[in-house]
Amino acid sequence: MTTQNTKVSNPVVAVVGAYGHTGRFVVAELRRRGFVPILSGRDADRLHALATTQPGSEVRPASVDDPASLDRALAGAAAVINCAGPFASTSAPVLDAALRARIPYLDVAAELEAVADTFAGYAGPARDAGVVVVPAMAFYGGLGDLLATAAMDDWPAADRISIAYALSSWHPTRGTRVTGQVSARRRDGRRVVYADHRMRYRTGEAPVTQWTFPAPTGTQAVVAEFTMADSATIPTHLKTPDIRTYMSVAAVADLRAADASPPVAVDEQGRSAQTFVVEVVVARAGETRRAVARGQDIYAVTAPLVVEATHRVLTGPDAPAGVFAAGALFDARDFLGSLSPRHLTLDIG
Ligand SMILES: NC(=O)c1ccc[n+]([C@@H]2O[C@H](COP(=O)([O-])OP(=O)(O)OC[C@H]3O[C@@H](n4cnc5c(N)ncnc54)[C@H](OP(=O)(O)O)[C@@H]3O)[C@@H](O)[C@H]2O)c1
Repeated sequence: MTTQNTKVSNPVVAVVGAYGHTGRFVVAELRRRGFVPILSGRDADRLHALATTQPGSEVRPASVDDPASLDRALAGAAAVINCAGPFASTSAPVLDAALRARIPYLDVAAELEAVADTFAGYAGPARDAGVVVVPAMAFYGGLGDLLATAAMDDWPAADRISIAYALSSWHPTRGTRVTGQVSARRRDGRRVVYADHRMRYRTGEAPVTQWTFPAPTGTQAVVAEFTMADSATIPTHLKTPDIRTYMSVAAVADLRAADASPPVAVDEQGRSAQTFVVEVVVARAGETRRAVARGQDIYAVTAPLVVEATHRVLTGPDAPAGVFAAGALFDARDFLGSLSPRHLTLDIG
């Protein structure tokens, strides 16, 4: 079954978690791209306060504990973007509402387990409802997935996919910190890695090693096995037994600092000074291919990623129904190219 792509003329997109740090970037990007956002979330006062800065946006409070309120929030929308996390609590109720409304669902989940749950639990229901679902359409998840897909190019399989993140700093939002706590509880304090074709739990401290990023970033100490949502999306469409993820030690230290402070806006778009480099290397029989993206602010860049995906789902050829990783649904090079150079600088070999 394919989705009915009859919504091209309807630019209304509901954003759940609209007044969160990431939700605000998504609302602003939707408006910049000509969409009309419905501002949704559980705090009516904060939604109305946001609406004063986003003229033309409609406010529809909704709670994930109240399906009828979610139905009201999604009524008449062409798609819904879920920015309310931890997604362990919000994915299922917002997904259920999207299936009832028969509209595309996209989210920005970074939680590997929540993303895996969406693939496992909603593939059948989404197909039956004729709805396209794209979880983790964000910096963690969609970006690594698209880079890995682009790097693979015509390879049918790789022996290993490595994803290395260099963040100049990481001032986490409240949502990131709470989400990290939820994931840690879910894993019972263990780490998770994708090895030998499946997710495996590991105990003890993650190893620290070195990764040489392209100049000018150069060689950095990185925490290995820093597994993110792309390890849940990649195995759904790319053949590889091993996914290895690395994160700069300095960023991990920032994230875990007892006095971690939230991001501070330094430009008119509200972006922080944080810069990132994501390098994906795919390896097969001694050969390697790579794809690199650079940019500013991992929260801010999530907005063009998820809004471009929404645009493509709504205006592209009829999307198949089901749950999809970014690289499985979109032409990875074309998608990434559309974000360059405004949002990303790319180097895809
Ligand atoms: N994959 C990625 O690269 C990526 C990028 C950005 C963000 N994220 C994820 O997106 C989520 C939000 O991040 P953020 O930076 O925007 O954090 P934030 O500024 O703290 O915002 C969190 C938002 O989620 C809402 N929310 C949380 N729990 C909810 C619940 N049970 N029901 C309804 N609303 C709920 C919050 O509403 P209240 O204030 O009313 O609680 C708020 O609007 C986090 O899970 C984060 O990991 C992922």
